[in-house]
Amino acid sequence: MRYDSVTDIIGRTPLLRIHPEVHGLRNIDLYAKLELLNPFGSLKDRAAWNMVRPGLDAAVERGSRIVELSSGNTAKALALIAGVHGLGFKSVTNRMKVPEIKELLLLLGAEIEELPGQTECLDPTNPEDPLTRFHRALSEPGSDYLHTDQYYNPRNAQAHAEGTGPEIVADLDGRAPDWFIAAVGTAGSSSGVARALRRTDPDVEVVGLVAHKSDFVPGIRNIDEIQEVGLFDPSLYTTIDPVTSDEAIDGMLELARRSGVLSGPTGGAAYFGALRHLRPLDAALTERGSTERKSAVFIVCDRIESYLSYIRRRRPELFGGQVRKNSLTALTPDEVRAAPAMDIEDAQHWIKTERPLVIDLRSPFAYAALHMEGAVNIADELLEEMVRGGLPFSKRQPVLLTCPVGERSAQYAALLTRLGHPDARSLAGGIVAWRDAGAQLVRE
Ligand SMILES: Cc1ncc(COP(=O)(O)O)c(C=O)c1O
Repeated sequence: MRYDSVTDIIGRTPLLRIHPEVHGLRNIDLYAKLELLNPFGSLKDRAAWNMVRPGLDAAVERGSRIVELSSGNTAKALALIAGVHGLGFKSVTNRMKVPEIKELLLLLGAEIEELPGQTECLDPTNPEDPLTRFHRALSEPGSDYLHTDQYYNPRNAQAHAEGTGPEIVADLDGRAPDWFIAAVGTAGSSSGVARALRRTDPDVEVVGLVAHKSDFVPGIRNIDEIQEVGLFDPSLYTTIDPVTSDEAIDGMLELARRSGVLSGPTGGAAYFGALRHLRPLDAALTERGSTERKSAVFIVCDRIESYLSYIRRRRPELFGGQVRKNSLTALTPDEVRAAPAMDIEDAQHWIKTERPLVIDLRSPFAYAALHMEGAVNIADELLEEMVRGGLPFSKRQPVLLTCPVGERSAQYAALLTRLGHPDARSLAGGIVAWRDAGAQLVRE
C-alpha cells in the first residue's frame, strides 16, 4: 500500500470479531471496530480531517491557525493535520487532565490555552462558562482562526455517517448489526454511525456510554452532561448507560490481555458496556432455544499508551504498587455510605455555630469563578496527595467538604474519618445544591 499523504490513510479500519470464549455470549457475534488503527491513533482522525478540508486552502493562503475546543484526540489529529499543511494549531480546553496528551500536543508544537471550563464537554446552557464564551467569540464573523467547531459541525458526524458506518455494514456483508455500542463525547461518531446503520436497518439498537456521576473517563461526557446540545441528541440512543472509570479499565484490560487490542479507556468502556447490555439478552435467547445469530459492534476509539498515568492513579496495583490505606481506592462502599453528610440548611447553621474548615475540592478554575465564603480550595488531586502522610488537619476543628455534586466530598469525608478525624462531613448535593438553594457564593 502506497500513499502520497498521511491523511489518505484515515479510515477503512478493520472489524475484529472478539472470540466467543473471551466474551462468553452464545448467540451474539461481538465485533470491535478498530478505530485505534487510524494514522494519528483515534477515530477522531476522520472527523478532524473532514472538518478541516473545506477551509484548508483559504487557511493556507491566509496563514490562519486551526483552533478547536479539545483536550484529546481531536486536538492531536488537528495538530498533526495542521503541521502537514504548514499551519499552527491552538487547543482551547478546560484543565487538561491527561498529562501524556498534553505533553504530546506541546511536543507537536501546539499552543494550549486552558480556561476554567466546568465540564468535560462544552455546556452552552451555562453562558457564563469561559469555554462557552470562547466558543461564541470564535463563531463570530471576523475570527482569524480556522475553527473546526467539533461540537456543532455536521461534518464531524458526516465523517462517520459516510465512512465508519458504511464500512461496518460492508464488513458484515451488507447487514447492519443488531446493536451498536459507543462512548459519547461530541456524539459525532455515535450519531453518524447510528444514522448510517439505521439506513440499512431502522431497528438497530444504539447504546451510548457516558462516564458515571462524578467520575472521569477521558474524552467522553458525564451522566450529568446529557442535555441535548450541538450534535448530541439523546433521542437517537436506545439507552444511555453510565460506566465508571474502574469498569472502563476492566474492559480495557480484558481487551488487551485476551483479545490483543491495545484499547484506551473509552474502548474499554464500550466493551464493558456492550457486555453488560448484551449478557441478559443473550441469556434470554439461549432460554428460548433461539437458533438465530445476532451481531453487535462496539467502537475502540483510541490506544492505551496515552492513559498510563490515568490508569496508574486509579489502579496502582497494576503497576506493582500497593493500594495505599490512605487512598480513596481503599474505601469500601459501606464506608462511603456511612460518611456524615449535611443538607444545605444544616450546613449553613453549622458553619455559623461551629466554624468548620470548609474545603472546596473543585478545580482552582471553578473555585476562582465562585465559591462559598471562607472556603479554602484544596483540589481533589492535591488532597489525595496530602492525605498520603496521614491526616493533614487538626482533629480539633470540624471539616466540611464540598465538591460539585456531593459525591467526591462524601468519599473524602469517609477517608478523613478512616484516618481518625472525629468530625469530617460532606455537603450533600455539593456546590450545585448550594447554588440552587440560593445560598451565598462569592468571587474574590
Ligand atoms: C477517547 C475518546 N473516546 C471517545 C470519544 C467520543 O467520540 P465523539 O466525540 O465522536 O462522541 C472521544 C472524543 O473525543 C475520545 O477522545
